[in-house]
Amino acid sequence: MGRRTKDYPLKTFYGKIHGQYDRVNRIFTFGRDASWRRKAAAECLKVRPIRILDLCTGTGDFLLELARQANSPVELTGYDFSASMLELARKKSRGLEEQPEIRSLNFVEGDVADMPFQNASFDAIGITFGIRNLLYENSGAGAHLSEIHRVLRPGGRLVILESSRPGNFLWRQFNALYLRLILPYLGGLLTGNLAAYRYLAQSSKNYYTRDQMIGILKNSGFRMISEKPLFLGSVMLLAAEKTD
Ligand SMILES: C[S@@+](CC[C@H](N)C(=O)[O-])C[C@H]1O[C@@H](n2cnc3c(N)ncnc32)[C@H](O)[C@@H]1O
Repeated sequence: MGRRTKDYPLKTFYGKIHGQYDRVNRIFTFGRDASWRRKAAAECLKVRPIRILDLCTGTGDFLLELARQANSPVELTGYDFSASMLELARKKSRGLEEQPEIRSLNFVEGDVADMPFQNASFDAIGITFGIRNLLYENSGAGAHLSEIHRVLRPGGRLVILESSRPGNFLWRQFNALYLRLILPYLGGLLTGNLAAYRYLAQSSKNYYTRDQMIGILKNSGFRMISEKPLFLGSVMLLAAEKTD
């Protein structure tokens, strides 16, 4: 059983919306999410990692992007605690192993709070739209951060793509209104699961600013490499390195 947030049991949430997840994502990000993942994958592959972990892989879009962009040998692992999200990821990635750069491609089911990987197993870890789930009002936040740190090798790269609270006042108000009045109801309508999209909207609206997220990473044993605001700061792309 995954950790519970104050508002919603996440594992149940993703188990219920997996079928519509990709389509609803496209709609809510105005079709931008694919290009953000492309940027995140490029940031991850910059250091030519071999063993790469896609944490909270969901339906596997980030892993697929890594596979598309890899131009040197990679061993890809997608990790998630939702069996139904992983099932879709497996389906979408069928045939990818035939690509010459892909040495291996595995999906593993489990909770980030307790990962079945040895210390320093990965050269790079990417988390796209997953870290909010791991940190926002989550009693397991500390365990999630220390597990991420443990399984990454010293000097390894951590890439995070996530929503963030924008700095610009006017855009922040618009963003908050969109998240309060549109996203939960449209999400509820499209998926039949209002509670799930209420959680998603609320956690996005109240999630950290880029600076707060950077502070958390620095306090968790990472050194910042780069930080980019996307979509006027409603989304952040961060790259960090494990310091010890
Ligand atoms: C918003 S989706 C992101 C999926 C994908 N990375 C993307 O870019 O669309 C978040 C995923 O995190 C997974 N997740 C949330 N908390 C988790 C935990 N503690 N352990 C493992 N997976 C978790 C959920 O099952 C879900 O598939």
